[in-house]
Amino acid sequence: MAIKLFSIIFFIETVNCQFQCKFDRPILGEYYSYENGLETHTSFKKNGNIDRLFYRRESGRGATANIITVLDNHALGECVYLNWKENPFRHVSKHHYQLIYRDKTKSCYQCFEIYNRTHNILQIRKSECDEVTSISTNQMNIQDLCLTINEEAEFDTLFLKTYSAEECRATIYGTYHFTYEFREGGIGICDNSISRLVSCPDPGTPFDAVNERFWMTYGYCRNLVSSIDAQPLYQCLGHWFNEKGDIFTAIANERVGSERWYDKFRCMLTRQDQPQWFAKSLFAECARLYSPTDGP
Ligand SMILES: *[C@@H]1O[C@H](CO)[C@@H](O)[C@H](O)[C@H]1NC(C)=O
Repeated sequence: MAIKLFSIIFFIETVNCQFQCKFDRPILGEYYSYENGLETHTSFKKNGNIDRLFYRRESGRGATANIITVLDNHALGECVYLNWKENPFRHVSKHHYQLIYRDKTKSCYQCFEIYNRTHNILQIRKSECDEVTSISTNQMNIQDLCLTINEEAEFDTLFLKTYSAEECRATIYGTYHFTYEFREGGIGICDNSISRLVSCPDPGTPFDAVNERFWMTYGYCRNLVSSIDAQPLYQCLGHWFNEKGDIFTAIANERVGSERWYDKFRCMLTRQDQPQWFAKSLFAECARLYSPTDGP
């Protein structure tokens, strides 16, 4: 019985296997992410090529000392195998694409697990490129390589640059008062009565049935150096759940131009059982949000 089952699984995987990949939606596209402190631009091209550019942020010289970005690393690679992994016995947040990546300059293969969370968001984690992995056409090698990815490994979150807003209502709806705190540089919590998040249909527009954006008004706190006085307008890029009941919502600041990707994308965390709390990330990433009351 066990042997029979194995042969069925083997058969399905062989059928799905494509040894040259072509990308289509939901993977195809240009993405921005913040990975290990580097601004990252990823392009999944139609022909299966994967180009990634990594930039460091530095303060420039001279009186104006603006932040400049410096190219740190450039990775050119291609997809050699792509397969959709779905197991009806596992939570839907575990369904993902398995991609085998070949770097064009290094002799290694890496397994990428790609989770398409919404139309605008991919989350990725990968195996290491620390040893020479030779993949022939052997199916088991691919699975072995992918098994080296730790089940608990964190994801990088990729935001589609040509995103289209999605409904916010499922996770953020209504008016909230919030206090805020920056974990880096701040010393204390800013509780100004005008700080609020307003997520309601745009009044007076023909679109008042849809609710794809919300305002956050940050009140100023005198004693907090890092408190800010600003009113960003966020568009929702969709949400997803994990098996613990955490709800992640990706957002884009509509008032930030596309030349400032670093400031544009954020991730928010809420919970089904604690809808009054949320945490918002300081960067374009979701990995360091652990609970609604404990975000960076
Ligand atoms: C992710 O991709 C799979 C396979 O193409 C598709 O069935 C699923 O609906 C996608 N999920 C989202 C959230 O778009």
